[in-house]
Amino acid sequence: MVILEAVSLVKRFGDVRAVDGISLTVGQGEIAGLLGPNGAGKSTTLHMLLGLVTPDSGEVRMFGLDLAKNRTEVLSQVNFSASYLGLPGVLHVREVLNAFARLYGLRHPRKRVEEVIDLLEIGPLARRKVVELSSGQHTRVQLAKALINEPRLLILDEPTAALDPDAGDRIRAMLVRIARESGTALLITSHNMREVERMCERIHFVSAGRIVATGTAAELASDFGVDDLEEVFLKVAREGAVPA
Ligand SMILES: Nc1ncnc2c1ncn2[C@@H]1O[C@H](COP(=O)(O)OP(=O)(O)OP(=O)(O)O)[C@@H](O)[C@H]1O
Ligand SMILES: [Mg+2]
Repeated sequence: MVILEAVSLVKRFGDVRAVDGISLTVGQGEIAGLLGPNGAGKSTTLHMLLGLVTPDSGEVRMFGLDLAKNRTEVLSQVNFSASYLGLPGVLHVREVLNAFARLYGLRHPRKRVEEVIDLLEIGPLARRKVVELSSGQHTRVQLAKALINEPRLLILDEPTAALDPDAGDRIRAMLVRIARESGTALLITSHNMREVERMCERIHFVSAGRIVATGTAAELASDFGVDDLEEVFLKVAREGAVPA
């Protein structure tokens, strides 16, 4: 079942064609990755999918509904995490999560808050103020917030960038489990090639606002005649290569 469908998205900022005609789909339970060099247009694409940035042209459908026409209904079933998003610093972690649980109108907000605290293993942080958290701790709180409404589509912009290898590994395993068990669709960006290889069933390689290749890590490596995703990345980023 198709959860997300983006059709021919275009976004210009002045002279910059940040996104130049991106189309993609993400299915139920699928973990899809957007990969590409800095400035390729990944975050701008995610922001259009979330209704944070209005496309110049193109369409976004989620759960069969047009985002532009059904914004509230659609976005209530989606969530997002990115390290550059702030959380209210003066609140305690549990207060922040309670506030989001209420914003989403959850039936049992307190119960869900305790569930996401357990999932992200942030019990020891629950009474700390957000402003006091380290960047890795902040990331885990962001992810707890992103899971609060049990989204059918979870969009994550570099979700593990600030995490140490152990925390990153646990979070990756948790996200894969959620996709498998709950059928949540995930769309992530990352500059960690091992993470993408391990997590993503389908990888969309973005370069200069366009998807230049799509496939599994193994398919992309084979298409570009190299051994792994890291080499695919270097080939596309440095040589502007396209698959053979
Ligand atoms: N609000 C904005 N105003 C002007 N230009 C923007 C804006 N947002 C993004 N851009 C430009 O659009 C292009 C794509 O940026 P985007 O943030 O989507 O890249 P990215 O693929 O997420 O890169 P990174 O890997 O560095 O996060 C860049 O050239 C960027 O400078
Ligand atoms: Mg980005």
